[in-house]
Amino acid sequence: MTTPAQQDDGVAKPLQVGLLGIGTVGSGTFKVLQRNQEEIQRRAGRGIRIASVADLDVARARAIVGDAAAVVDDARRVIADPAIDIVVELIGGTGVARALVLEAIAAGKHVVTANKALLAVHGNEIFAAAHAKGVMIGFEAAVAGGIPIIKALREGLTANRIEWVAGIVNGTTNFILSEMRDKGLDFATVLKEAQRLGYAEADPGFDIEGVDAAHKATIMCAIAFGVPMQFDKAHVEGITALQATDIRYAEQLGYRIKLIAMARRAAQGIELRVHPTLVPARRLIANVEGAMNAVVVQGDAVGTTLYYGKGAGAEPTASAVVADLVDITRLHTADPDHRVPHLAFQPGALAATPVLPMHEVVTAYYLRLCVADQTGVLSRITTILAEHDISIDAVLQRESAEGERQTDLIILTHDTREGRMNDAMAKMQALPTVLAPIVRLRKEELN
Ligand code: HSE
Repeated sequence: MTTPAQQDDGVAKPLQVGLLGIGTVGSGTFKVLQRNQEEIQRRAGRGIRIASVADLDVARARAIVGDAAAVVDDARRVIADPAIDIVVELIGGTGVARALVLEAIAAGKHVVTANKALLAVHGNEIFAAAHAKGVMIGFEAAVAGGIPIIKALREGLTANRIEWVAGIVNGTTNFILSEMRDKGLDFATVLKEAQRLGYAEADPGFDIEGVDAAHKATIMCAIAFGVPMQFDKAHVEGITALQATDIRYAEQLGYRIKLIAMARRAAQGIELRVHPTLVPARRLIANVEGAMNAVVVQGDAVGTTLYYGKGAGAEPTASAVVADLVDITRLHTADPDHRVPHLAFQPGALAATPVLPMHEVVTAYYLRLCVADQTGVLSRITTILAEHDISIDAVLQRESAEGERQTDLIILTHDTREGRMNDAMAKMQALPTVLAPIVRLRKEELN
Protein backbone atom coordinates (compact mmCIF):
# COMPACT_ATOMS: atom_id res chain seq x y z
CA MET A 1 0.00 0.00 0.00
CA THR A 2 1.31 3.45 -0.90
CA THR A 3 0.76 6.59 1.09
CA PRO A 4 -0.43 9.84 -0.44
CA ALA A 5 2.31 12.15 -1.75
CA GLN A 6 3.00 14.97 0.71
CA GLN A 7 3.35 18.63 -0.12
CA ASP A 8 6.17 20.67 1.43
CA ASP A 9 3.85 21.63 4.32
CA GLY A 10 3.29 17.95 5.13
CA VAL A 11 -0.34 17.97 3.91
CA ALA A 12 -1.31 15.29 1.37
CA LYS A 13 -1.14 16.68 -2.16
CA PRO A 14 -4.56 17.11 -3.80
CA LEU A 15 -5.53 14.32 -6.15
CA GLN A 16 -5.13 15.56 -9.73
CA VAL A 17 -8.09 15.14 -12.05
CA GLY A 18 -8.13 15.35 -15.83
CA LEU A 19 -11.51 16.19 -17.36
CA LEU A 20 -12.32 14.93 -20.86
CA GLY A 21 -15.14 17.15 -22.10
CA ILE A 22 -16.41 20.24 -20.31
CA GLY A 23 -20.00 20.58 -21.45
CA THR A 24 -22.98 20.79 -19.09
CA VAL A 25 -21.87 18.08 -16.63
CA GLY A 26 -18.18 18.99 -16.86
CA SER A 27 -18.78 22.62 -16.01
CA GLY A 28 -21.13 21.56 -13.19
CA THR A 29 -18.39 19.29 -11.84
CA PHE A 30 -15.86 22.09 -11.97
CA LYS A 31 -18.21 24.48 -10.15
CA VAL A 32 -19.26 22.01 -7.44
CA LEU A 33 -15.65 21.02 -6.74
CA GLN A 34 -14.65 24.68 -6.45
CA ARG A 35 -17.63 25.78 -4.38
CA ASN A 36 -17.52 22.90 -1.92
CA GLN A 37 -13.80 22.22 -1.93
CA GLU A 38 -13.34 22.72 1.78
CA GLU A 39 -16.11 20.29 2.79
CA ILE A 40 -15.05 17.84 0.10
CA GLN A 41 -11.47 17.88 1.41
CA ARG A 42 -12.72 17.28 4.97
CA ARG A 43 -14.63 14.26 3.70
CA ALA A 44 -12.03 12.87 1.29
CA GLY A 45 -9.03 13.43 3.55
CA ARG A 46 -7.24 15.43 0.88
CA GLY A 47 -8.03 17.92 -1.83
CA ILE A 48 -9.36 17.07 -5.27
CA ARG A 49 -8.27 19.40 -8.05
CA ILE A 50 -9.20 19.54 -11.71
CA ALA A 51 -5.71 20.08 -13.07
CA SER A 52 -6.38 19.77 -16.80
CA VAL A 53 -9.29 19.82 -19.17
CA ALA A 54 -9.49 18.54 -22.74
CA ASP A 55 -12.21 19.92 -24.98
CA LEU A 56 -12.38 20.60 -28.69
CA ASP A 57 -13.78 24.04 -27.86
CA VAL A 58 -10.72 25.36 -26.05
CA ALA A 59 -12.03 28.93 -25.81
CA ARG A 60 -15.27 27.83 -24.11
CA ALA A 61 -13.34 25.52 -21.77
CA ARG A 62 -10.96 28.34 -20.88
CA ALA A 63 -13.90 30.63 -20.16
CA ILE A 64 -15.23 28.08 -17.65
CA VAL A 65 -12.02 27.17 -15.81
CA GLY A 66 -10.06 30.42 -16.13
CA ASP A 67 -6.51 29.90 -14.92
CA ALA A 68 -7.46 27.14 -12.50
CA ALA A 69 -6.60 24.31 -14.91
CA ALA A 70 -4.63 23.67 -18.09
CA VAL A 71 -6.83 23.48 -21.19
CA VAL A 72 -5.94 21.43 -24.26
CA ASP A 73 -7.85 20.16 -27.28
CA ASP A 74 -6.31 16.68 -27.22
CA ALA A 75 -7.69 14.24 -24.63
CA ARG A 76 -4.69 11.96 -25.07
CA ARG A 77 -2.40 14.62 -23.64
CA VAL A 78 -4.43 14.59 -20.43
CA ILE A 79 -4.37 10.79 -20.26
CA ALA A 80 -0.62 10.66 -20.90
CA ASP A 81 0.14 13.29 -18.23
CA PRO A 82 1.87 11.42 -15.35
CA ALA A 83 0.59 14.02 -12.87
CA ILE A 84 -3.06 13.04 -13.51
CA ASP A 85 -4.46 10.46 -11.07
CA ILE A 86 -8.10 10.29 -12.22
CA VAL A 87 -9.58 10.75 -15.68
CA VAL A 88 -13.20 11.91 -15.84
CA GLU A 89 -14.81 10.96 -19.15
CA LEU A 90 -17.73 13.24 -20.03
CA ILE A 91 -17.57 12.98 -23.81
CA GLY A 92 -20.40 10.46 -24.21
CA GLY A 93 -21.09 7.87 -26.89
CA THR A 94 -19.40 4.56 -27.49
CA GLY A 95 -16.76 5.48 -30.07
CA VAL A 96 -13.91 7.73 -29.02
CA ALA A 97 -15.03 7.54 -25.38
CA ARG A 98 -14.38 3.78 -25.33
CA ALA A 99 -10.90 4.19 -26.78
CA LEU A 100 -10.01 6.96 -24.33
CA VAL A 101 -11.33 5.12 -21.27
CA LEU A 102 -9.36 2.00 -22.22
CA GLU A 103 -6.25 4.13 -22.80
CA ALA A 104 -6.69 5.82 -19.42
CA ILE A 105 -6.98 2.42 -17.72
CA ALA A 106 -3.91 1.15 -19.58
CA ALA A 107 -2.07 4.27 -18.33
CA GLY A 108 -2.99 3.25 -14.75
CA LYS A 109 -5.52 6.05 -14.18
CA HIS A 110 -8.75 5.66 -12.25
CA VAL A 111 -11.75 6.61 -14.37
CA VAL A 112 -15.03 8.33 -13.55
CA THR A 113 -17.68 8.35 -16.24
CA ALA A 114 -21.30 9.42 -16.68
CA ASN A 115 -21.51 7.40 -19.88
CA LYS A 116 -24.30 4.82 -19.54
CA ALA A 117 -24.19 3.77 -23.21
CA LEU A 118 -20.48 3.04 -22.93
CA LEU A 119 -20.88 0.90 -19.81
CA ALA A 120 -24.02 -0.91 -20.96
CA VAL A 121 -22.44 -1.85 -24.28
CA HIS A 122 -18.70 -2.14 -23.46
CA GLY A 123 -18.77 -2.40 -19.66
CA ASN A 124 -17.57 -6.01 -19.50
CA GLU A 125 -14.44 -5.14 -21.48
CA ILE A 126 -13.85 -1.95 -19.47
CA PHE A 127 -14.30 -3.56 -16.04
CA ALA A 128 -12.06 -6.50 -17.00
CA ALA A 129 -9.33 -4.07 -18.11
CA ALA A 130 -9.73 -2.01 -14.91
CA HIS A 131 -9.58 -5.13 -12.74
CA ALA A 132 -6.43 -6.34 -14.48
CA LYS A 133 -4.81 -2.94 -13.99
CA GLY A 134 -6.02 -2.46 -10.40
CA VAL A 135 -7.79 0.84 -11.10
CA MET A 136 -11.28 1.97 -10.14
CA ILE A 137 -14.17 2.94 -12.42
CA GLY A 138 -16.74 5.28 -10.87
CA PHE A 139 -20.09 5.51 -12.67
CA GLU A 140 -22.63 6.83 -10.19
CA ALA A 141 -23.56 9.56 -12.69
CA ALA A 142 -24.39 7.03 -15.40
CA VAL A 143 -27.74 6.03 -13.86
CA ALA A 144 -30.41 8.48 -12.71
CA GLY A 145 -28.02 11.47 -12.51
CA GLY A 146 -27.86 12.78 -8.97
CA ILE A 147 -29.67 9.86 -7.30
CA PRO A 148 -27.07 7.64 -5.58
CA ILE A 149 -28.68 4.45 -6.86
CA ILE A 150 -25.40 2.73 -7.76
CA LYS A 151 -24.12 3.28 -4.23
CA ALA A 152 -27.42 2.05 -2.78
CA LEU A 153 -27.50 -1.12 -4.88
CA ARG A 154 -23.79 -1.86 -4.56
CA GLU A 155 -23.23 -1.00 -0.91
CA GLY A 156 -26.30 0.07 1.06
CA LEU A 157 -28.33 -3.00 0.07
CA THR A 158 -25.45 -5.45 0.03
CA ALA A 159 -27.08 -7.68 2.66
CA ASN A 160 -30.06 -8.36 0.43
CA ARG A 161 -31.02 -10.80 -2.22
CA ILE A 162 -32.45 -8.22 -4.58
CA GLU A 163 -35.74 -9.32 -6.13
CA TRP A 164 -36.37 -6.50 -8.57
CA VAL A 165 -35.45 -2.98 -9.54
CA ALA A 166 -37.95 -0.75 -11.33
CA GLY A 167 -37.13 2.79 -12.33
CA ILE A 168 -38.19 5.91 -14.11
CA VAL A 169 -34.69 6.68 -15.33
CA ASN A 170 -35.32 8.91 -18.32
CA GLY A 171 -36.49 12.41 -17.56
CA THR A 172 -37.34 13.35 -21.13
CA THR A 173 -39.90 10.58 -21.54
CA ASN A 174 -41.30 11.11 -18.06
CA PHE A 175 -41.81 14.78 -18.87
CA ILE A 176 -43.60 13.84 -22.10
CA LEU A 177 -45.83 11.29 -20.34
CA SER A 178 -46.71 13.78 -17.60
CA GLU A 179 -47.67 16.40 -20.17
CA MET A 180 -49.69 13.89 -22.23
CA ARG A 181 -51.66 12.96 -19.10
CA ASP A 182 -52.08 16.48 -17.70
CA LYS A 183 -53.08 18.14 -20.94
CA GLY A 184 -54.58 15.21 -22.84
CA LEU A 185 -52.21 15.90 -25.74
CA ASP A 186 -50.76 13.36 -28.14
CA PHE A 187 -47.13 12.27 -28.20
CA ALA A 188 -45.99 14.26 -31.24
CA THR A 189 -47.38 17.55 -29.91
CA VAL A 190 -45.74 17.14 -26.51
CA LEU A 191 -42.42 16.09 -28.03
CA LYS A 192 -42.32 19.33 -30.03
CA GLU A 193 -43.08 21.29 -26.86
CA ALA A 194 -40.35 19.42 -24.95
CA GLN A 195 -37.86 20.26 -27.67
CA ARG A 196 -38.93 23.92 -27.66
CA LEU A 197 -38.39 24.06 -23.88
CA GLY A 198 -35.00 22.36 -24.21
CA TYR A 199 -36.01 19.19 -22.31
CA ALA A 200 -35.65 16.88 -25.30
CA GLU A 201 -32.63 16.82 -27.58
CA ALA A 202 -32.96 17.90 -31.21
CA ASP A 203 -32.42 14.18 -31.89
CA PRO A 204 -34.32 12.62 -29.00
CA GLY A 205 -34.12 9.09 -30.46
CA PHE A 206 -32.30 7.38 -27.57
CA ASP A 207 -34.72 8.89 -25.05
CA ILE A 208 -38.09 8.32 -26.72
CA GLU A 209 -37.20 4.88 -28.10
CA GLY A 210 -36.28 3.66 -24.62
CA VAL A 211 -32.60 3.07 -25.44
CA ASP A 212 -31.25 5.46 -22.79
CA ALA A 213 -33.45 3.84 -20.14
CA ALA A 214 -32.33 0.39 -21.30
CA HIS A 215 -28.66 1.37 -20.92
CA LYS A 216 -29.41 2.35 -17.32
CA ALA A 217 -31.51 -0.79 -16.70
CA THR A 218 -28.62 -2.91 -17.99
CA ILE A 219 -26.24 -1.33 -15.48
CA MET A 220 -28.69 -1.67 -12.56
CA CYS A 221 -29.40 -5.28 -13.54
CA ALA A 222 -25.71 -6.17 -13.51
CA ILE A 223 -25.18 -4.67 -10.05
CA ALA A 224 -28.41 -5.96 -8.56
CA PHE A 225 -27.92 -9.58 -9.60
CA GLY A 226 -24.17 -9.92 -10.09
CA VAL A 227 -24.33 -10.67 -13.80
CA PRO A 228 -22.37 -9.19 -16.72
CA MET A 229 -23.71 -6.25 -18.73
CA GLN A 230 -26.12 -7.67 -21.32
CA PHE A 231 -27.61 -4.73 -23.16
CA ASP A 232 -28.06 -6.83 -26.30
CA LYS A 233 -30.53 -9.05 -24.39
CA ALA A 234 -32.66 -6.18 -23.09
CA HIS A 235 -36.18 -5.72 -24.41
CA VAL A 236 -36.43 -2.07 -25.45
CA GLU A 237 -39.68 -0.33 -26.22
CA GLY A 238 -40.14 3.44 -26.10
CA ILE A 239 -43.15 5.71 -25.91
CA THR A 240 -43.49 6.80 -29.56
CA ALA A 241 -46.53 4.59 -30.20
CA LEU A 242 -48.29 5.50 -26.96
CA GLN A 243 -51.70 7.12 -27.45
CA ALA A 244 -53.39 9.68 -25.23
CA THR A 245 -56.51 7.43 -25.32
CA ASP A 246 -54.68 4.70 -23.42
CA ILE A 247 -53.37 7.13 -20.83
CA ARG A 248 -57.01 8.18 -20.26
CA TYR A 249 -58.38 4.63 -20.04
CA ALA A 250 -55.55 3.62 -17.71
CA GLU A 251 -56.44 6.55 -15.47
CA GLN A 252 -60.09 5.50 -15.36
CA LEU A 253 -58.92 2.09 -14.17
CA GLY A 254 -56.68 3.58 -11.46
CA TYR A 255 -53.32 3.40 -13.28
CA ARG A 256 -50.68 5.76 -14.65
CA ILE A 257 -48.51 4.89 -17.64
CA LYS A 258 -44.78 5.28 -17.05
CA LEU A 259 -41.70 4.22 -19.03
CA ILE A 260 -40.43 1.66 -16.53
CA ALA A 261 -36.93 0.18 -16.69
CA MET A 262 -37.25 -3.21 -15.06
CA ALA A 263 -34.77 -5.83 -13.92
CA ARG A 264 -36.34 -8.77 -12.12
CA ARG A 265 -35.19 -12.10 -10.81
CA ALA A 266 -37.51 -14.86 -12.06
CA ALA A 267 -37.43 -18.62 -11.49
CA GLN A 268 -35.64 -19.43 -14.75
CA GLY A 269 -33.59 -16.29 -15.26
CA ILE A 270 -33.60 -12.51 -15.23
CA GLU A 271 -36.06 -10.16 -16.87
CA LEU A 272 -34.44 -7.06 -18.37
CA ARG A 273 -36.94 -4.81 -20.08
CA VAL A 274 -37.96 -1.24 -20.77
CA HIS A 275 -41.48 -0.45 -21.96
CA PRO A 276 -44.46 1.78 -21.20
CA THR A 277 -46.07 0.22 -18.13
CA LEU A 278 -49.31 0.69 -16.23
CA VAL A 279 -48.52 1.28 -12.56
CA PRO A 280 -51.21 1.70 -9.87
CA ALA A 281 -51.79 5.45 -9.42
CA ARG A 282 -51.45 5.08 -5.64
CA ARG A 283 -47.80 3.95 -5.84
CA LEU A 284 -45.28 6.69 -5.07
CA ILE A 285 -43.41 5.97 -8.30
CA ALA A 286 -46.58 6.55 -10.32
CA ASN A 287 -46.59 10.11 -8.96
CA VAL A 288 -43.10 10.99 -10.13
CA GLU A 289 -43.81 13.77 -12.59
CA GLY A 290 -41.97 15.91 -15.12
CA ALA A 291 -38.28 15.32 -15.70
CA MET A 292 -37.70 13.72 -12.28
CA ASN A 293 -36.32 10.19 -11.89
CA ALA A 294 -37.08 7.50 -9.31
CA VAL A 295 -36.01 3.94 -8.69
CA VAL A 296 -37.75 1.34 -6.52
CA VAL A 297 -35.70 -1.58 -5.26
CA GLN A 298 -37.17 -4.65 -3.63
CA GLY A 299 -34.77 -6.58 -1.40
CA ASP A 300 -35.62 -9.68 0.62
CA ALA A 301 -34.46 -8.17 3.92
CA VAL A 302 -35.16 -4.47 3.53
CA GLY A 303 -38.44 -4.75 1.61
CA THR A 304 -39.25 -1.91 -0.77
CA THR A 305 -37.04 1.18 -0.93
CA LEU A 306 -37.51 4.24 -3.13
CA TYR A 307 -34.89 6.67 -4.46
CA TYR A 308 -36.05 9.94 -6.01
CA GLY A 309 -34.35 12.99 -7.48
CA LYS A 310 -33.04 14.76 -10.53
CA GLY A 311 -31.81 12.40 -13.21
CA ALA A 312 -30.02 14.98 -15.31
CA GLY A 313 -28.68 18.51 -15.27
CA ALA A 314 -25.32 20.11 -14.57
CA GLU A 315 -25.07 20.07 -10.78
CA PRO A 316 -27.24 17.01 -9.98
CA THR A 317 -25.04 14.92 -12.29
CA ALA A 318 -21.92 16.67 -10.97
CA SER A 319 -23.02 15.62 -7.48
CA ALA A 320 -22.61 11.99 -8.57
CA VAL A 321 -19.33 12.60 -10.42
CA VAL A 322 -17.80 14.31 -7.39
CA ALA A 323 -19.04 11.54 -5.07
CA ASP A 324 -17.09 9.09 -7.22
CA LEU A 325 -14.03 11.33 -7.06
CA VAL A 326 -14.25 11.33 -3.25
CA ASP A 327 -14.65 7.54 -3.16
CA ILE A 328 -11.59 7.11 -5.34
CA THR A 329 -9.62 9.60 -3.27
CA ARG A 330 -10.43 7.64 -0.11
CA LEU A 331 -9.66 4.25 -1.64
CA HIS A 332 -6.94 4.74 -4.18
CA THR A 333 -4.17 3.73 -1.81
CA ALA A 334 -6.13 0.63 -0.68
CA ASP A 335 -5.25 -2.84 -1.86
CA PRO A 336 -7.41 -3.33 -5.01
CA ASP A 337 -8.76 -6.61 -3.60
CA HIS A 338 -10.25 -4.72 -0.67
CA ARG A 339 -12.07 -2.09 -2.66
CA VAL A 340 -15.79 -2.26 -3.43
CA PRO A 341 -16.09 -4.43 -6.57
CA HIS A 342 -17.21 -2.49 -9.66
CA LEU A 343 -20.32 -4.60 -10.18
CA ALA A 344 -21.01 -5.14 -6.45
CA PHE A 345 -20.06 -8.83 -6.67
CA GLN A 346 -16.47 -10.03 -6.86
CA PRO A 347 -15.31 -10.24 -10.50
CA GLY A 348 -14.82 -14.02 -10.23
CA ALA A 349 -18.29 -14.47 -8.70
CA LEU A 350 -20.49 -13.16 -11.49
CA ALA A 351 -23.41 -15.48 -12.28
CA ALA A 352 -24.29 -16.83 -15.72
CA THR A 353 -28.04 -16.51 -15.02
CA PRO A 354 -29.66 -16.00 -18.44
CA VAL A 355 -31.69 -12.96 -19.41
CA LEU A 356 -35.08 -14.39 -20.36
CA PRO A 357 -36.48 -13.87 -23.85
CA MET A 358 -39.61 -11.73 -23.77
CA HIS A 359 -41.99 -14.63 -24.45
CA GLU A 360 -40.85 -16.15 -21.12
CA VAL A 361 -41.55 -12.99 -19.12
CA VAL A 362 -44.50 -13.13 -16.73
CA THR A 363 -46.47 -9.92 -16.28
CA ALA A 364 -50.00 -8.53 -16.40
CA TYR A 365 -51.53 -6.76 -19.40
CA TYR A 366 -53.74 -3.93 -20.54
CA LEU A 367 -55.49 -4.64 -23.83
CA ARG A 368 -57.54 -2.19 -25.87
CA LEU A 369 -59.63 -3.70 -28.62
CA CYS A 370 -61.63 -1.68 -31.08
CA VAL A 371 -64.59 -4.00 -31.59
CA ALA A 372 -67.90 -4.11 -33.42
CA ASP A 373 -70.62 -3.27 -30.92
CA GLN A 374 -72.73 -6.38 -31.40
CA THR A 375 -73.97 -9.42 -29.51
CA GLY A 376 -71.44 -12.06 -28.48
CA VAL A 377 -68.25 -10.04 -29.16
CA LEU A 378 -67.19 -9.80 -25.51
CA SER A 379 -67.95 -13.47 -24.92
CA ARG A 380 -65.78 -14.57 -27.89
CA ILE A 381 -62.87 -12.52 -26.61
CA THR A 382 -63.15 -13.73 -23.03
CA THR A 383 -63.41 -17.32 -24.31
CA ILE A 384 -60.09 -16.95 -26.16
CA LEU A 385 -58.46 -15.59 -22.99
CA ALA A 386 -59.93 -18.45 -20.93
CA GLU A 387 -58.71 -21.01 -23.50
CA HIS A 388 -55.20 -19.63 -23.00
CA ASP A 389 -55.58 -19.80 -19.23
CA ILE A 390 -55.38 -15.99 -18.97
CA SER A 391 -57.37 -14.62 -16.07
CA ILE A 392 -59.18 -11.28 -16.43
CA ASP A 393 -58.73 -8.68 -13.70
CA ALA A 394 -61.03 -5.90 -14.99
CA VAL A 395 -63.08 -4.97 -18.06
CA LEU A 396 -64.14 -1.52 -19.23
CA GLN A 397 -66.29 -0.84 -22.24
CA ARG A 398 -66.74 2.63 -23.63
CA GLU A 399 -70.37 3.58 -24.02
CA SER A 400 -71.03 3.89 -27.76
CA ALA A 401 -72.29 7.18 -29.09
CA GLU A 402 -75.74 7.32 -30.66
CA GLY A 403 -75.63 5.35 -33.95
CA GLU A 404 -71.98 4.29 -33.47
CA ARG A 405 -71.38 0.67 -34.48
CA GLN A 406 -68.05 0.13 -32.75
CA THR A 407 -66.59 0.65 -29.32
CA ASP A 408 -63.41 0.26 -27.25
CA LEU A 409 -63.09 -2.73 -24.99
CA ILE A 410 -60.37 -2.46 -22.34
CA ILE A 411 -59.26 -5.57 -20.51
CA LEU A 412 -56.80 -5.85 -17.65
CA THR A 413 -55.42 -9.33 -17.06
CA HIS A 414 -53.69 -11.02 -14.18
CA ASP A 415 -50.11 -12.23 -14.61
CA THR A 416 -49.46 -14.55 -17.49
CA ARG A 417 -46.53 -15.61 -19.65
CA GLU A 418 -45.99 -13.24 -22.59
CA GLY A 419 -45.80 -16.10 -25.10
CA ARG A 420 -49.26 -17.18 -24.05
CA MET A 421 -50.56 -13.63 -24.37
CA ASN A 422 -49.05 -13.39 -27.88
CA ASP A 423 -50.96 -16.53 -28.94
CA ALA A 424 -54.22 -15.25 -27.46
CA MET A 425 -53.75 -11.86 -29.13
CA ALA A 426 -53.20 -13.49 -32.52
CA LYS A 427 -56.52 -15.37 -32.12
CA MET A 428 -58.38 -12.23 -30.98
CA GLN A 429 -56.91 -10.17 -33.78
CA ALA A 430 -58.18 -12.70 -36.32
CA LEU A 431 -61.81 -12.22 -35.21
CA PRO A 432 -63.80 -10.26 -37.85
CA THR A 433 -65.34 -8.23 -35.03
CA VAL A 434 -61.94 -6.88 -33.91
CA LEU A 435 -61.65 -3.87 -36.18
CA ALA A 436 -58.14 -2.48 -35.55
CA PRO A 437 -54.75 -3.64 -34.30
CA ILE A 438 -55.04 -4.52 -30.60
CA VAL A 439 -53.16 -2.17 -28.28
CA ARG A 440 -51.22 -4.13 -25.66
CA LEU A 441 -49.39 -2.60 -22.73
CA ARG A 442 -47.80 -4.30 -19.76
CA LYS A 443 -48.93 -3.71 -16.20
CA GLU A 444 -46.89 -4.04 -13.01
CA GLU A 445 -48.23 -3.77 -9.47
CA LEU A 446 -44.77 -2.98 -8.02
CA ASN A 447 -45.84 -3.94 -4.52
N1 HSE B 1 -31.38 12.03 -21.57
C1 HSE B 1 -31.49 11.63 -20.20
C2 HSE B 1 -32.90 11.89 -19.70
C3 HSE B 1 -30.57 12.36 -19.28
O1 HSE B 1 -33.74 12.44 -20.41
O2 HSE B 1 -33.15 11.52 -18.56
C4 HSE B 1 -29.20 11.78 -19.17
O3 HSE B 1 -29.17 10.43 -18.90
